[in-house]
Amino acid sequence: MSGDKKSASAPEPSASHASRGQASAERVDFDDYSASYDELLHESTKLYAEDSEYFARYKVDLIRERTRGPVGRILEYGCGTGRNIGYLAQAFPGAEIVGTDLSEESLRIAAGSHPQSRFEVERPDLDLGRFDLIFVASVFHHIPPDQRAGVMKVLARRLAPGGCLDIFEHNPFNPVTRRIVNTCPFDADAILLKPAELRALFRQAELALNKQSFCLFFPPRLSFLLPMEKYLEWLPLGGQYWVRAQHP
Ligand SMILES: C[S@@+](CC[C@H](N)C(=O)[O-])C[C@H]1O[C@@H](n2cnc3c(N)ncnc32)[C@H](O)[C@@H]1O
Repeated sequence: MSGDKKSASAPEPSASHASRGQASAERVDFDDYSASYDELLHESTKLYAEDSEYFARYKVDLIRERTRGPVGRILEYGCGTGRNIGYLAQAFPGAEIVGTDLSEESLRIAAGSHPQSRFEVERPDLDLGRFDLIFVASVFHHIPPDQRAGVMKVLARRLAPGGCLDIFEHNPFNPVTRRIVNTCPFDADAILLKPAELRALFRQAELALNKQSFCLFFPPRLSFLLPMEKYLEWLPLGGQYWVRAQHP
């Protein structure tokens, strides 16, 4: 891992801003949560899924199923402690995987668990080359709204021709999701986005929308219902949603 967090010039840590649609809160520093991240995630999602690894597996399985063609290089933007990295490596054997994040402490944990992958502190001028697949899970709601367009342009620049950008976000229309966000300490700065906001950010970054679907409808204990989810993708009641853009 390399990089200097203090020189990670953008997105700049913001001043206070509206959190969870109500009071204002300082931006969360994930360095403070890197050691307790797994435990806090488990605590806030255990009524839905006892095993919080479920979420990483579920998302990677979803994109694997819908990805055609060779995938040589993968970027996980905002990879945190690397919870998705192992599943990405299993799903795309042989691919080079790079993880970036603003949190150096999280990257240290990720690098310890996944020595085959490369980890870098995120900055917009970071030159990592181009990627066939960029995976971004539960990151945009932590980025202050006025910085989101800039981040999307950075992601668009890093996408190889024909490459896919897959973004998973909490579904603000789902009351259970909103409750989880409202009680999770590392979501104190979360400002949830509707799919339309991500679609607008794609347009501004000159990316073409390829797919939008709501997902995570059924908890793992109802896994026999999972095959139904593909018929529900239009229904804004899933716990999360997924948007995919393609480099035109
Ligand atoms: C809720 S965690 C999700 C981590 C990981 N994607 C996962 O699914 O387990 C959000 C992560 O986004 C990172 N993050 C927030 N803003 C970021 C930005 N502008 N650029 C890169 N990472 C960012 C945080 O440091 C944190 O590690």
